[in-house]
Amino acid sequence: MTGKEKTGMNRDSSATCEMRGKVAVVTGGGQGIGRAVVRRLAGEGLFIVIADTDGEAGSEAAAMAGNDSALFVQTDVADESGVRTMIERGVGAFGRIDFLVNNAGIAAAHLGPVESLPLEAWSRMIAVNLTGAFLCAKHAAPHLRASSGAIVNIASTRALMSEPDTEAYAASKGGIVALTHALAASLGPEVRVNCISPGWIDVRGWRKGVTGGVEPLAREHHAQHPAGRVGRPEDIASMVFHLLSPEQGFLTGQNIVVDGGMTRKMIYR
Ligand SMILES: NC(=O)c1ccc[n+]([C@@H]2O[C@H](COP(=O)([O-])OP(=O)(O)OC[C@H]3O[C@@H](n4cnc5c(N)ncnc54)[C@H](O)[C@@H]3O)[C@@H](O)[C@H]2O)c1
Repeated sequence: MTGKEKTGMNRDSSATCEMRGKVAVVTGGGQGIGRAVVRRLAGEGLFIVIADTDGEAGSEAAAMAGNDSALFVQTDVADESGVRTMIERGVGAFGRIDFLVNNAGIAAAHLGPVESLPLEAWSRMIAVNLTGAFLCAKHAAPHLRASSGAIVNIASTRALMSEPDTEAYAASKGGIVALTHALAASLGPEVRVNCISPGWIDVRGWRKGVTGGVEPLAREHHAQHPAGRVGRPEDIASMVFHLLSPEQGFLTGQNIVVDGGMTRKMIYR
């Protein structure tokens, strides 16, 4: 059974045809948004290298994608030698790398008041969320140039707006938006580089070990969004697919906000 049959997808657009058989590295692909990206890309017929620190989550995601078309490499994206090994193993398994999705992140935005924020907590956030994307781009770049590939980085609407006590996370994501246009300038024209800034994405159903449904969110959580609902991991996976696709060959260096309209909503009281 192909990955496409397993995931019940039946698309045969020209984008799908051009993407089939290509190889994507997805960091943080074990759970949450990354797992939805793995599922979408595998469903479109791509081979996937899943890089995640969580062994259980990564193995589950690889099994879901179809073990013959996915390779899980336990990796901390903040560790350069681990990233180098992960890229080498991916190339060893599938012969090439066409795409990189820098999604791994410490998703907890609130680390407490800035006056008592430990330097270690700040540094780890920047190391995983920002330096990790740099390291993966650095080591994937020769392969991406060779295949005329593409990178999608996952930032956040918190790169653009803030709540109190979120300095490290906001700075890491602002860094991703800037890293994206810098990489687009450096790696073009061979490699296009874009980023997505998701708003609130409900990832509870995409965590390791979750098989059934999850408690529905309150009506007001959905209703506050101009789009009428909280985001789903599939919303981001769909945008990742389109940004990677050669159909978007004129789009590079951009930050695409996928937030149900929340950053366009006037909230003065
Ligand atoms: N869920 C949201 O509402 C939301 C909104 C905006 C941006 N984001 C961003 O999207 C990305 C995914 O978020 P999520 O909500 O799916 O998170 P998640 O916690 O559900 O999944 C993150 C995955 O990344 C892995 N990971 C964490 N640190 C790692 C490291 N050092 N090396 C490799 N893998 C690592 C985790 O093990 C996990 O499998 C993150 O970059 C996050 O900042 C999420």
